[in-house]
Amino acid sequence: MSGFDTTVHLVYLACASCFVIGLHLMNAPATARRGNQVSAAGMGVAVLATVAVLVHGGQITAGAVVALAAGVAAGGVAGLIAARRVQMTAMPQLVSLFNAVGGGAAALIALGDALGHATALITTVLDLVIGALTLSGSLVASGKLAGLIPGRPLIVPGGRWITLLLALATVTLAGLHLTGRGGVAALGGIAVAALAAGVLLTLPIGGADMPVVISLLNACTGTAVAMAGFIVGSSPLIIAGALVGAAGAILTQLMATAMNRSIGSILTGGYGTGDESPAAVGGAPVREITAEDAALQLAYAKKVVVVPGYGLAAAQAQHEVVALARALAERGVHVSYGIHPVAGRMPGHMNVLLAEADAPYEQLKDLEEINPAFPGTDIVLVVGANDVTNPAARRPGNAVSGMPILDVDRARGVIVIKRSLGHGYAGIDNELYALPNTSMLFADAKRGLGALLTGLREYAPQ
Ligand code: TAP
Repeated sequence: MSGFDTTVHLVYLACASCFVIGLHLMNAPATARRGNQVSAAGMGVAVLATVAVLVHGGQITAGAVVALAAGVAAGGVAGLIAARRVQMTAMPQLVSLFNAVGGGAAALIALGDALGHATALITTVLDLVIGALTLSGSLVASGKLAGLIPGRPLIVPGGRWITLLLALATVTLAGLHLTGRGGVAALGGIAVAALAAGVLLTLPIGGADMPVVISLLNACTGTAVAMAGFIVGSSPLIIAGALVGAAGAILTQLMATAMNRSIGSILTGGYGTGDESPAAVGGAPVREITAEDAALQLAYAKKVVVVPGYGLAAAQAQHEVVALARALAERGVHVSYGIHPVAGRMPGHMNVLLAEADAPYEQLKDLEEINPAFPGTDIVLVVGANDVTNPAARRPGNAVSGMPILDVDRARGVIVIKRSLGHGYAGIDNELYALPNTSMLFADAKRGLGALLTGLREYAPQ
């Protein structure tokens, strides 16, 4: 091995270490940003090292350099603009688009390699299948979340049979390709079948289940990229792909567990069509409260826990909730946030929103940490959260049975800000709302929190 090769391998090893360290730093909100930077730096250096390898080996023509530079410039600028402009609530569809691009790139690598080499590899076929399926599936998922495709489960008549036929066709064409009899037509056929299967598998899944599907497709992208790494003999691609594949698979499993759903039931579709129309809590009366009374209760509490949910994200009320928490803390109230792992519509949704509004990290408590604290809490302020607080989850026989919940009903008092008695994602009544220690402040989260802040200043001045 030449000195150049050794150096390149050492650089690749350093890049792989950056990916692992970056992932580790992403474990905690306080270090997540640095984790992202470390991983991105590792990937940047890996790309430069790969270009150096190509130039050193004389494997790259002037035309290819221009094409590469144009690709990097166009992709880099598009990615930068998309990431800077995206609203926090639109993050899942952007991630899905990035998945689509990753899967598509991996599939193109497989096609390019197969067309340029005489020997047929099983990794090429797998890369093509997973990459193409991820490309179309991610585009449909992104379209559903962006509202370009209806979010409700879209059942294609005979869809399961068509998918089965597509799978059989793929296996047959792969056999032909691997025995050297298929040619370009077999590869094209595999790509088309995988693209169609991606669409058919994603359409029947409800829009609100999409984050789990996106995480699963993310795992597929990682796997396809690792396969592409085997094809072109690139260790950074293999390592990065394997890490993304494993992280995506673990996240998918964690999300499914936190929702008490099996991945199989999510993929079969037909569940979770999004927000439901208003309803009464099984006919039981609920107690309404005015913003002024709620402000007074909060002002004279010793301990307050804020529980944010999807409604906070929908109303973009993260700055208002943090301003209110800050105002309470200034009055000497002990404030913390109870964060459920699947509150909102994407993993870490609430952490990201609260971090954007500069909520102190040490005030963010996860489910295991905050649940024992509820019995000693004076007021829990639930903002746009529904299913993750529903005590019905402790009983069998309903849509949230078995889902771990935030035990807010065990606090001395609960104030819920939402616009109506409307359902959450699971589509069932929340028994919390009818409990005697719960009061409802019916308002949009942003406006309700604003009114609480005003009430605090006007009716309970320090
Ligand atoms: P949900 O149970 O979905 O309830 C959200 C509530 O927000 C609704 O009941 C709605 O009531 C209220 N809301 C909507 N817009 C609002 C606004 N502008 N102002 C105030 N309130 C508003 O939310 P959650 O408690 O966060 O639970 C999340 C659910 O999503 C769970 O069932 C979970 O399994 C599911 N899910 C989560 C994920 C991830 S990874 N986070 C992925 C897929 C599914 P009103 O209409 O009455 O205002």
